[in-house]
Amino acid sequence: MARTPDQHGVPYFPAFLDLLGKRVVVVGGGSVATSKVRALLPCQPRPLIVVAPAISPIIAAAAQAGHLEWWPRPYQAGDLAGAALAFGATDDRALNAQVAAEARQRGVPVLAVDDVPNCDFIAPALVRRGDLVVAISTGGRSPAMARRAREHLERVLPASWGDLLEVAAAARQALGSARALIEPAAWQTALGGQVEQLAASGALEAATELLVRQLQQSLFAPRSGLVSLVGAGPGDPDLLTLGAVRRLQAADVVVHDRLVDPAILAYAAQTAERIDVGKTPGGGGPSQAAIEALLVDLGRQGRRVVRLKGGDPFVFGRGGEEALALARAGVPFEVVPGVSAALAAPAAAGIPVTQRGLSASLTIATGHDAEAHDWPALARGGGTLVFLMAVGGLAGLTERLLAAGRPADEPAAVVEWATTPRQRSLCAPLDQIAAAARQAAIQAPAVLVVGPTAALAEHIAPQAHVAAVDAASHQGAPQRSRPPGEFPSSAACHPERSEGPATPGATAADAHPGDTPTATTPTAAATRGAHGG
Ligand SMILES: C[S@@+](CC[C@H](N)C(=O)[O-])C[C@H]1O[C@@H](n2cnc3c(N)ncnc32)[C@H](O)[C@@H]1O
Repeated sequence: MARTPDQHGVPYFPAFLDLLGKRVVVVGGGSVATSKVRALLPCQPRPLIVVAPAISPIIAAAAQAGHLEWWPRPYQAGDLAGAALAFGATDDRALNAQVAAEARQRGVPVLAVDDVPNCDFIAPALVRRGDLVVAISTGGRSPAMARRAREHLERVLPASWGDLLEVAAAARQALGSARALIEPAAWQTALGGQVEQLAASGALEAATELLVRQLQQSLFAPRSGLVSLVGAGPGDPDLLTLGAVRRLQAADVVVHDRLVDPAILAYAAQTAERIDVGKTPGGGGPSQAAIEALLVDLGRQGRRVVRLKGGDPFVFGRGGEEALALARAGVPFEVVPGVSAALAAPAAAGIPVTQRGLSASLTIATGHDAEAHDWPALARGGGTLVFLMAVGGLAGLTERLLAAGRPADEPAAVVEWATTPRQRSLCAPLDQIAAAARQAAIQAPAVLVVGPTAALAEHIAPQAHVAAVDAASHQGAPQRSRPPGEFPSSAACHPERSEGPATPGATAADAHPGDTPTATTPTAAATRGAHGG
């Protein structure tokens, strides 16, 4: 039965065909036929027949090498006799339809290019790593989406996995009948560690030996888990590290903060258990001690655990406490650093945290625990200060900095929900930043940046770029309003760019995005980042 356009939503059954030694006929010799022939050649169909008056150099070379037969003439009825598979791959739609008609009469599965009703199967987009092949289908509904998926997979699927497949296959053979006794999870653990590194460095024999040894040991040893303390970055899934993605893909269980972007959690397998340990709006949720006990327990069960934390686990993330708890309990663990909001938020708002001639140091501090700081020392440093968890106590923070000697007109900025579609930032002199943030109803999560480089946001923030380019093109000259190099170190950015709703005292408790009870509505952003769309 031919598929009609209104049946587009009905999925195709995914399968890989064994064409070894089978007769396959391709009608056509141009670029489309060439792409089919290229995909067919490694499968070694015999004979592979190309019917076309003219052929591309690639097909000609394959014919000359004896890999296919070229019938140098137009298609004729009867050409598909005995075929296991047929392709109508000319640029003549009517001719392709004729090929499809003969194929169907003979019961031969056929693909007529770009003609869904005349296809019994579709050729998927492919991502290859040696014999590891990922096939992508959109059911013929969107080549653009298939391409997008392929490009994404090309980025995330490690180049070395073709070799890792060779190692896994060799180990499987070496294990013989013992492989039936090996737990699937033992394979996953063994393939992900040193074995993968050896395979990536080209030491395939050593990788195979190690893999066999580890799998044999797994038969006798109690299953040992691994807890990965993984940084999820500041919010934008594009800022996840490849290490984070790989740990998520291999995880049996993901223990995550509240409101971690679903696009990030989606990297974990559908079968992976997801445990939300974030704080709830009322301040509820498991205690830190309970989270640590949970991680120890899951590790002892021999599970592959990802503890997913916002930003970097060791920057105000309590990752250190969790690592110590795991170390004390003797549970194997690792740390996968992430992009901290302390760096990403200023960057996303166009603020370099260091800049030759303006700021030679960076201090990252908590805004929660004012007593923890030596304020005169912070003030004396003169470089850039970045405060996390800064919103609730913003007024107190700035007062202490001013009292300790930071200049009242020193540039300062607040960046809220950095790198997410909700990003907002505003700049003001230090003595006005708390009032400006209150007026704009800035809420957690946000960072406070204090220092001369905060003034550069005006020039560097993505929106500022657009404005500068627009202005320059109107004036017919490629110039900026004020070159960044000319910025006086004490110059303030423009508080009037803050246009948020005036809701005095509307700051929420500081927390990570995962812990944040409410969010600011970005009615009118002071400065939106690249993701402010
Ligand atoms: C508990 S700390 C965790 C920091 C995290 N470990 C890191 O390295 O980014 C939470 C604070 O990080 C900051 N933060 C986290 N994500 C942020 C974001 N997307 N935009 C602005 N600030 C953020 C806020 O100051 C928030 O209160």
